[in-house]
Amino acid sequence: MSASTLPFDGLLIGSSLATLAEPTGYGEITDGALAWKDGVLAYVGPRADLPGSPETLAREVIEASGWVTPALVDAHTHLVFAGDRAREFEMRLQGATYEEIARAGGGILSTVRAVRDADEDALFEQSLPRAQALLRDGVTTLEIKSGYGLDFESERRMLRVARKLGQTLGITVRTTYLAAHALPPEFKGNADGYVEALCAWLPDLHAEGLVDAVDAFCESIAFTPTQTRRVFETARALGLPVKLHADQLSDLGGAGLSAEFEGLSADHVEHTNEAGVRAMAASGTVAVLLPGAFHVLRDTKLPPLDLFRAHGVPMAVATDCNPGTSPLLSLRQAMQLACTHFRLTPEEALRGATTHGARALGFHDRGQLRVGMRADFVVWHVRHPAELCYWLGGDLVHSVHAGGVRAA
Ligand code: NIG
Ligand code: FE
Repeated sequence: MSASTLPFDGLLIGSSLATLAEPTGYGEITDGALAWKDGVLAYVGPRADLPGSPETLAREVIEASGWVTPALVDAHTHLVFAGDRAREFEMRLQGATYEEIARAGGGILSTVRAVRDADEDALFEQSLPRAQALLRDGVTTLEIKSGYGLDFESERRMLRVARKLGQTLGITVRTTYLAAHALPPEFKGNADGYVEALCAWLPDLHAEGLVDAVDAFCESIAFTPTQTRRVFETARALGLPVKLHADQLSDLGGAGLSAEFEGLSADHVEHTNEAGVRAMAASGTVAVLLPGAFHVLRDTKLPPLDLFRAHGVPMAVATDCNPGTSPLLSLRQAMQLACTHFRLTPEEALRGATTHGARALGFHDRGQLRVGMRADFVVWHVRHPAELCYWLGGDLVHSVHAGGVRAA
């Protein structure tokens, strides 16, 4: 048979599969096979049921071992930034709080200064290794927020760099406009004026194709629910989905606000109350858990995990990769922290970093191994999928594939 008439482009054999195809359980297939065509999964099942011998089915045959899972989806990152905040980490260890540092002009605003000083190439060069680190540990779909520019040109530069990272690495990047992250110094004392300005920038950025969703930091040290609502109304008028940094440090009703706008997600959600959880369940809003920030801030207030379970709110797990509260460069490590701090089961953590992460970004074509889904998958050197949440560090990846193409 000539190559062009083979039924599949690629075929992987020799591994077990964790398909996550059913609502519970790993969806295990021992001695499985996975085949793809035109970037989409075309066979997922036992190797014994393949319709022929491997060489008659695909030009590229990969013989592997271990386990295959859907590729990881990191639904919340701020990985485009310049500089670092290691000095603040030291200050916090000496007793200063995140809020105190922020109110004294450090925190997010110190990264804003570094980003404003960095041109597009510098921002790209500093951010690329972070995206590469996530990819090398299994991530092929990644959300990246703006929010360290806080003026039109700097926010635009961040979003352009985010797009370029996806193109360079051959992975999917979803961009989120988070100009409502902190109040820039030029608007000091005029938060409402800044909110008007950032709403006015959005149509041009959207017209340039730079924005997939809109986010805000609704918190006492950032923006009020009323200001957040103004941002969300602007997004809705442009047909853009919203998500929210909600109830991280206090309960301002952020989860309910995101749900009211049919938000893709409410993120952090440590202080979310039961009314917020019910509203999320009704609107299909995903809870994005960020155990890296919880860990680094040595937080003690757990998100309402049992309420999310009881009301059927899907829980995603993401890195929140950022220079202040979560300098975390592995989604697998975030899964580990979700298990140790939040008592997620390894299966919940894996689903949170795949199926539910995809949903938090509005994707329905990835996050499970099923025929018709994108051929985004990872081959891991493990004896059981629970090992993905068990090891702290280490290199468990055999290979990472995005749309059937090897990406790492
Ligand atoms: O998700 N909460 C606000 N934003 C980030 C922190 C950003 C920063 O400190 O630079 C977060 O934790
Ligand atoms: Fe964040």
